[in-house]
Amino acid sequence: MELIIAPAAQLAILAADRFEAVLRAKPRAVLGLATGSSPLPTYDELARRHREGGLSFAQATGFTLDEYVGIDLDHPERYRNVIAREITDRVQWPAGQVSGPDGSAADLTAAAAAYETAIRDAGGVDLQILGIGSNGHIAFNEPLSALTSRTRSVPLTEQTRRDNARFFGGNLDLVPTLCLTQGLGTIMEAREIVLVATGAGKAEAIAQLVEGPISASWPATVLQMHPNTTVLVDKAAAAGLTRHRP
Ligand code: GLP
Repeated sequence: MELIIAPAAQLAILAADRFEAVLRAKPRAVLGLATGSSPLPTYDELARRHREGGLSFAQATGFTLDEYVGIDLDHPERYRNVIAREITDRVQWPAGQVSGPDGSAADLTAAAAAYETAIRDAGGVDLQILGIGSNGHIAFNEPLSALTSRTRSVPLTEQTRRDNARFFGGNLDLVPTLCLTQGLGTIMEAREIVLVATGAGKAEAIAQLVEGPISASWPATVLQMHPNTTVLVDKAAAAGLTRHRP
């Protein structure tokens, strides 16, 4: 695992550099997309490179990590809509080439299996961007998720719902209680992973991720077993590290 500590603006450039390198080498790349606020500056930078530098997503395929269950199809915080707004539409990525787990399916088990098949049929993810929850979750793999888990439905913890209430007008009651998420085992199959975290609220999760024991209590620690992961953090998110000094 490579760790880079840099100012937040620089992190977005470094993450966008990885996307650009993968896309230029392989225009038909399979890209893994994440929601949450952490990837947004990277998406801004990718949109700028598309606009000003002709970076093309026209042949790429995208897969998002997760989706709320029980959210209206046209809700602005439905992850499929967030991804369209924040990245897909801005880089003229053909909408049919970007998909997410179907949180509106009547049969969530079948939807999860179908999503695994779709990723596999596309050849697997070349580059996955990740954020991290303050409790160490990645995608919606909450603490005590099996380290080998696959795409499945998961109840959201109270802490994650509180963290995400800001996207629902601060009203916890409006935050869904269930989601469909890629598993840790699914995410681990990406050929390259870039995780971005900023701010003091992520310091404990980053300390566990980089220096803690691999444990389902801190799901992101499974990435210590991944052969090609870069962790991009600002000084505040790096503050809990004892062996890596900013
Ligand atoms: C949500 C998403 C995760 C994301 C996390 C952190 O729970 N499912 O994929 O990493 O939030 O979000 P943020 O980057 O806004 O702190």
